[in-house]
Amino acid sequence: MKIALLGYGKMGKIIEKIAMDRKHEIVLKIDQDNISDLTADNLQKADVAIEFSTPHTALTNITECLNAGVPVVVGTTGWHDSLPAIKQRCENEGLAFIYGTNFSVGVNIFFHVNKMLAKIMNGYSYYDVQVEEIHHTQKLDSPSGTAITIAEGIIDNLDAKKQWINVLTAEGLEGTDNATADELLIESYRIDSVPGTHTVIYDSEVDSIEFKHTAHNRNGFALGAVMAAEWIQNKKGFYSVEDMFDFTLNNK
Ligand SMILES: NC(=O)c1ccc[n+]([C@@H]2O[C@H](COP(=O)([O-])OP(=O)(O)OC[C@H]3O[C@@H](n4cnc5c(N)ncnc54)[C@H](O)[C@@H]3O)[C@@H](O)[C@H]2O)c1
Repeated sequence: MKIALLGYGKMGKIIEKIAMDRKHEIVLKIDQDNISDLTADNLQKADVAIEFSTPHTALTNITECLNAGVPVVVGTTGWHDSLPAIKQRCENEGLAFIYGTNFSVGVNIFFHVNKMLAKIMNGYSYYDVQVEEIHHTQKLDSPSGTAITIAEGIIDNLDAKKQWINVLTAEGLEGTDNATADELLIESYRIDSVPGTHTVIYDSEVDSIEFKHTAHNRNGFALGAVMAAEWIQNKKGFYSVEDMFDFTLNNK
């Protein structure tokens, strides 16, 4: 498979290595110094594009891929207000697009179990719930896209919570919890060199239940993005990373 990499930062470099290990070829690399190379002609040399740039540049890059008719995998977070417009274009024009706030297999298992847990907790209203996320200090968006997906999974399945609010809390300080009963607090911490930790905490007077995912490095995100590129290359339509996985319980 021939791949165009849009964004050659921390993630782009790991994706390149994993893609080459899986015998794919990188035919285009775009970063801020060579944006003028992002042309339809250059993009069309690739079977699929993988976009991991910045919240401010992702939409322009995605639009270039769609204009060129090249399937695109998008990992960049912090621009998702534009998803409905992209969905409409994919449906109207038969284009291929897959996005995910987190491409790691482990996190997608976490997303699934998080929804099941929220459903169970409807029966136990004396627990309150909050989400905590920790990322490296260079992260541009807050809360993390992954934390938003976790919060949406809770809100869609736990009757008591209607919307999320976010508090960005300095290292070493306790977060201030001004959430009302129907608001789900997402507490964000920025600590040097943490690739990503997310915890869902159900707390009551008698005990706490903590459900946690810790990324040890960025390889899981990158492998998932390359798997998404392999998965989408001959498809058409608008997909989220959850469409790639089947976590049906089959008692095997
Ligand atoms: N979905 C996931 O699984 C997942 C996992 C990790 C990170 N992310 C997200 O991916 C994005 C990138 O993360 P990162 O850690 O590689 O960040 P990074 O800051 O290391 O890399 C971003 C790169 O984009 C480049 N860039 C700037 N303008 C550009 C443009 N117009 N076109 C192309 N590239 C441009 C920057 O120069 C930089 O090299 C972030 O939004 C991050 O939150 C998603």
